Amino acid sequence: MKCVLLAGGSGTRLAPLTDGFSKHLVRVGQRTLLEHALSDLEAGGVDEVCVVLGETGATAIRDHLRESDQFDLEVRYAVQGAARGVADAISHAEPFVGDEPFLVYLGDNLFGPSLEPFVRGFAATEDGVGLCLRRVDDPTRFGVPVFESGSLQDIVEKPADPPSEYAVTGLYGFPPAVFDHIERLEPSDRGELEVTDAIRSLLDAGRSAHVHRFDGWWVDAGTPDGLLTANRRVLAGSGGSGPAAATDAVGADADSGLGEGVRVRAPVSVGAGVEVGNGTELGPNVTLDADVVVGSEARISDSIVLSGATVADGTSVTESIVAPGARVTSPLRGEVYR
Ligand code: TTP
Repeated sequence: MKCVLLAGGSGTRLAPLTDGFSKHLVRVGQRTLLEHALSDLEAGGVDEVCVVLGETGATAIRDHLRESDQFDLEVRYAVQGAARGVADAISHAEPFVGDEPFLVYLGDNLFGPSLEPFVRGFAATEDGVGLCLRRVDDPTRFGVPVFESGSLQDIVEKPADPPSEYAVTGLYGFPPAVFDHIERLEPSDRGELEVTDAIRSLLDAGRSAHVHRFDGWWVDAGTPDGLLTANRRVLAGSGGSGPAAATDAVGADADSGLGEGVRVRAPVSVGAGVEVGNGTELGPNVTLDADVVVGSEARISDSIVLSGATVADGTSVTESIVAPGARVTSPLRGEVYR
């Protein structure tokens, strides 16, 4: 099965992290979001992937996946450029897809433990639309399916009065006919070609829907809260894509230099080349990406610190995301820091 993996977009909800940096390269535990996606797709039965690139971080993504080299997948690329919507992004993969049903995965989503039941179920449908639904506490924040007599009629975006308790997640299955439908779409009020409109158009044309109720966990990591939730999920090892025991990662890399009296409250993930000064407390739920430098007597919890960033001596960082190369010298709480 082929999959189109979207890695463009504008990432405004994660600004200023996403100024010149793609959110898809955020490391969550031992892997970036893109690596988690590829790993989960491979385990789910996908063998060919087309990564759709946007304006931000296109070269960095290609370099990263070339170096990553841990997947037995054929990876190709398509360039969308400016963010004109998810349906527009999908249309750029038409030459890759050819004439078979295919999957679409939004690259800032994370699922656990396995996508295989959805992939298998969709593969067995004939030319229908595949939707992966997850029950959520607050459907008003998502696209919500509308059922009539048990069959899918429509999807409504962020409804004030949700017609069901399910959200449409970022994993879809499409017949190749979707490209003709996308060609006929008009931009929405926010100026984008919407995937929901493409699905509605297919349903209106009489295509059947394969609806899968996903019972694992699902996170839209496109917001600061979402990224920190994804970090907790992966580090807890509750999903197939996280390190089995994140504590094992601490100091596991020969290059990692933990100073004297460093206290680690698991789970914590430490990347290559990380330096941590004496008496610093790490955890719980901390990802330190490669080459992060943390001073002495510092304190980091519930946070992601990206590659090459520095946290100064005595500084406390909590519930925050620190951009690559940033230098933190005063306390952070609940911030996206660049
Ligand atoms: P979104 O998170 O809906 O959009 P965005 O990435 O532009 O972020 P924000 O809303 O914060 O500005 O996108 C979902 C996924 O689809 C994400 O992985 C990025 C990808 N995408 C594209 O590849 N091209 C696009 O034009 C859009 C809008 C999204």
